[in-house]
Amino acid sequence: MMNDIQNIVILTGAGVSAESGLATFRGFDGLWDGHRVEDVCTPDAFSRDPALVHAFYDARREKLGTVEPNAAHRALARFDAEWPGELLLITQNVDDLHERAGSKRLLHMHGELAKGWCLACGERFGWAGPMGVGAECSACGTVGAVRPDIVWFGEMPYEMERIDDALRRCDLFVSIGTSGAVYPAAGFVQTARYCGASTLEINLEPSLGSSMFSKSRIGKAGELVPEWVKEMLSR
Ligand code: OAD
Repeated sequence: MMNDIQNIVILTGAGVSAESGLATFRGFDGLWDGHRVEDVCTPDAFSRDPALVHAFYDARREKLGTVEPNAAHRALARFDAEWPGELLLITQNVDDLHERAGSKRLLHMHGELAKGWCLACGERFGWAGPMGVGAECSACGTVGAVRPDIVWFGEMPYEMERIDDALRRCDLFVSIGTSGAVYPAAGFVQTARYCGASTLEINLEPSLGSSMFSKSRIGKAGELVPEWVKEMLSR
């Protein structure tokens, strides 16, 4: 079976960035400055209190400048450069550590901290530094209509058609560092499996959907991902 593998889809979550020093979502008490994270990451929260939501994402964007890709990001970038078959790396993470490590066949299904989205003209553009309520759109010049380009609870993740197509065609689906608590990403394993793919989970602990995977490797992404990449490239 392993020799039949050509098309691979990899899904990553906050666990792949944990060893770089970025907090996972469900690993801490779920509070930020006294607010439940779910109360900050919604379109409703943004219309109710945009300054609060901007402060949350401005702090996370600032933190990006203090962290580096780890061994798992670097191994996945090497895999991207050397794997001769089709590959799609889907990340739920809004950090930029996969691209900083060198991954190219990459898709951010939950958006990116380093991008803004103007609600006045619809443009999306790179953003460094704080955004805040007074941010000016670099395309149309409107002030106060730029939001972080992040998919909030209740919004549709990006590029779902392309993802669904890749899942249906893949021979192997690998999930790395994600708790399996948030759909639709948590359901990707079912689609891939239903369409005949082998499935592998690499996580610090069995995820919520662990029984859906044909294989599980339990441990740190920074150790297990380089090992897996080495195995795959030496087959
Ligand atoms: P979670 O915080 O829910 O899960 C992180 C998973 O990584 C947990 O199962 C941990 O056990 C595991 N983990 C922690 N450290 C690890 C390590 N060093 N190596 C391997 N695994 C490790 O994060 P996500 O599953 O990514 O959405 O969360 C999914 C989505 O929920 C996020 O994208 C975010 C949030 O709401 C949006 O922002 C839209």
